[in-house]
Amino acid sequence: MGERWQAVDDYIAAKLLGDDDVLAATLTNNEAQGLPPINVSAAQGKMLFLLAQMAGARRILEVGTLGGYSTIWLARALPDGGGLVTLELEPYHAEVARENLERAGVSDKVDIRIGPAAASLAAMTGDAPFDFVFIDADKQSNSLYVAEAIRLGRPGTTIIVDNVVREGGVLDAGSDDDRIIGTRALFDMLAADPRLDASAVQTVGAKGWDGFILARVL
Ligand code: SAH
Ligand code: DHB
Ligand code: MG
Repeated sequence: MGERWQAVDDYIAAKLLGDDDVLAATLTNNEAQGLPPINVSAAQGKMLFLLAQMAGARRILEVGTLGGYSTIWLARALPDGGGLVTLELEPYHAEVARENLERAGVSDKVDIRIGPAAASLAAMTGDAPFDFVFIDADKQSNSLYVAEAIRLGRPGTTIIVDNVVREGGVLDAGSDDDRIIGTRALFDMLAADPRLDASAVQTVGAKGWDGFILARVL
């Protein structure tokens, strides 16, 4: 089925997304610089863009920058005067992202913070709350990142968490994979935490069978 999923993603992109030289150049540059091709798909990027606009987001937080592909989609959703903070562990990824964000003309709206996201988040206090949070980094830390998103958000903040299905791997209660354990811990947290309301949607497409959590801070 993988080829058909890819073909439908291509159809969606041709119909609804159009050509975008900047985003194409970003993916070409990521590959040329040796970054892994684990960015969101084009259709997912457009969805993030639309969701951020629907939320009226002025301040966006992203955890997991890679080469800034999803960052560009999200930064484009910001109104004038809006801003995005994106957290990345690897200085080399951040360097590639900086080039891509510059080419995309969104550098002035984006603040890349290098280091373990847990430390970058812990250092954040007192700023205006984030309206929209996209979590897409080390999956073992997902529940910590959502807890931080709540702390740094406000009632109504939108939280999206990528890769929460992993070919059905999320069902494996006995998994010794830290990423599965981390994602299951996040589902347990969402099930119990009165500060959030959430759903999760399974997806197929260019990135295989996966899914995302969509949550709203109450
Ligand atoms: N959101 C990107 C893809 C992110 S891939 C896109 O769709 O274009 C995941 C990224 O998270 C990688 O660049 C990886 O280096 C980073 N990462 C992994 N562990 C991290 C951590 N502890 N803190 C911050 N970033 C981390
Ligand atoms: C991986 C990470 C991602 O964020 C993703 O969307 C797909 C794959 C990975 O680490 O393999
Ligand atoms: Mg992802």
